[in-house]
Amino acid sequence: MAENEGIWFIKLTEFYKVAELAQIPEEGSKVIDFMRKEIALFRHAGKVYALDNLCPHRQAPLSTGEIADGAVLCPWHKARFDLATGKGLPGPHRADIGCYQVEIVNDDIMLKR
Ligand code: FES
Repeated sequence: MAENEGIWFIKLTEFYKVAELAQIPEEGSKVIDFMRKEIALFRHAGKVYALDNLCPHRQAPLSTGEIADGAVLCPWHKARFDLATGKGLPGPHRADIGCYQVEIVNDDIMLKR
């Protein structure tokens, strides 16, 4: 008898397709609207990350910031945010931003609600 026989597992997937990999160049970004928020998708070192697009300091669009060493640099006053966690890194204006769970299914980019 299989270990899980007779038990129904219901996986409630809360991931939604928001873009396709081909829409984001390597080391580039794309802005999407997701759940009424402006989200920046970043493609860096073979992975895709999703963060709030607006910098918490003065609302600069982080999607236009430079990506380096696993972080994005705010284009206006140089705050840095970790791509994987949204944590503010040491710098002139340190605050955390929203970070969203990403899954790649085939070539589709999925975000968790
Ligand atoms: S707007 Fe991003 S650090 Fe000022």
